[in-house]
Amino acid sequence: IVAAFQPRLLAGRTVLVTAGPTFEAIDPVRGLTNRSSGKMGYAVARAAREAGAEVVLVSGPTALPAPHGVQRIDVVSAQEMFDAVMARVGAAQIFIATAAVADWRPVHVHAQKQKKQEGEGAPAIALQPNPDILATVAALPQPPFCVGFAAESENLAENAAAKRLRKNVPLLVGNLGPDTFGRDDNRLELFDAAGHHPLGSGDKLVLARKLVAEIAARLDRSGG
Ligand code: CTP
Ligand code: CA
Repeated sequence: IVAAFQPRLLAGRTVLVTAGPTFEAIDPVRGLTNRSSGKMGYAVARAAREAGAEVVLVSGPTALPAPHGVQRIDVVSAQEMFDAVMARVGAAQIFIATAAVADWRPVHVHAQKQKKQEGEGAPAIALQPNPDILATVAALPQPPFCVGFAAESENLAENAAAKRLRKNVPLLVGNLGPDTFGRDDNRLELFDAAGHHPLGSGDKLVLARKLVAEIAARLDRSGG
């Protein structure tokens, strides 16, 4: 019903969204993860659907229901998220990476729960890097319009501008925190080749609709 009141800015487009954290197993009961409720990403998926797009949401573990009309693909680890994205990105004109992807995973995943050993202290966990999903998609020969998110704990403007160039994406959304995890509201700043400007603050769904309108306008301007 809500969709009927939204301009169909993305009709005929397919939008691929990543959301939530990833979880990197250490053993069957332990793992490494990032803080992310998935709320911002789910709001983006919902807003894109309202705007008339076909939406595929590749989601790490969250407690959220799939937005209405959105195809959700559940994954756990960064490697699974990478594989799910690469299998579907060819059909997408827009890729929005909101997921808080774990940067590293354990080199060894133990098949059985590791037991504490008396007097042995704590085990060292060797880590290896995960693939960078956004950078890999942006480096494809014919990439979709790529949008990244950056949650920085300090120096947002410098870090986000540098991150946008490093990932080679036309648009990066900076999260002005400090503590928006799990909350329903947020404050966002857009970084592009021209510089940066505030998108606004408030409810994540309201911000997501604004972001979708910005993306649609840029896609139109680029002749996509
Ligand atoms: N991202 C990704 N795959 C990764 C890491 C990050 O797709 N392995 C995406 C995130 O979804 C986000 C953007 O890249 O859209 C920026 O993520 P962020 O963690 O802020 O950047 P990193 O390059 O990992 O840098 P760092 O964590 O060191 O700040
Ligand atoms: Ca990271």
